[in-house]
Amino acid sequence: MNLLGKKVNIGVLGSGKGTNFQAIAEAVQAGKVDARIVCVLSNVSDALIMERARKMGIPAEYIDPAPFRTKLDGQAELKLIERLRHYGVELVVLAGFMMIIKERLLKAYERRIINIHPSHLPAFPGLDAWKQALQAGVKTTGCTVHYVDAGTDTGPVILQKSVEVKENDTPATLHARIQEQEHIAYPQALNIVIHEIQSRDRK
Ligand code: GAR
Repeated sequence: MNLLGKKVNIGVLGSGKGTNFQAIAEAVQAGKVDARIVCVLSNVSDALIMERARKMGIPAEYIDPAPFRTKLDGQAELKLIERLRHYGVELVVLAGFMMIIKERLLKAYERRIINIHPSHLPAFPGLDAWKQALQAGVKTTGCTVHYVDAGTDTGPVILQKSVEVKENDTPATLHARIQEQEHIAYPQALNIVIHEIQSRDRK
């Protein structure tokens, strides 16, 4: 606990390899983020993010997204909200969670869901943003941490970092450099959001 308030309970949602989760978890462990990661939930049963969480002693659960593949809706959405509440989650952190968040979850966690996206939004929303940047021929791209709203990769920006696009970049090399910045950006953005939550909760 710091001078401002109690630690904020974070629930991380992810679908993939979980390097952003790892960066956040290490920042929390090092005392650089005033939070506690209480669970990791995934729509992919064998996602590496869950393995990483379990290795760190953090509960990880698979939520079957059926019958939808790209949006979190119906029973899956209800189940996910139930698990978030079960773990006492106060802030939902999307870290490579590749499903669209719908109204019920947005309402349940109003201004308490944040996401990281691998571009300088509003440029290149959607899938494979680093490939979109290469195809567009831009000289600079980056990453954005933002609050989640009903749009795809829209919502108020919390923090952005820039990454130079090099002449000989491939999708893989560019994404790797963007990810280096993501791993710095997410813990910093979390501190901004946590400060805001703690200030709000004290009123
Ligand atoms: C990250 O680059 C993140 O920005 C991106 O998925 C990757 C997940 O990596 N998210 C999106 O594209 C969301 N629109 P990770 O699983 O290693 O954290």
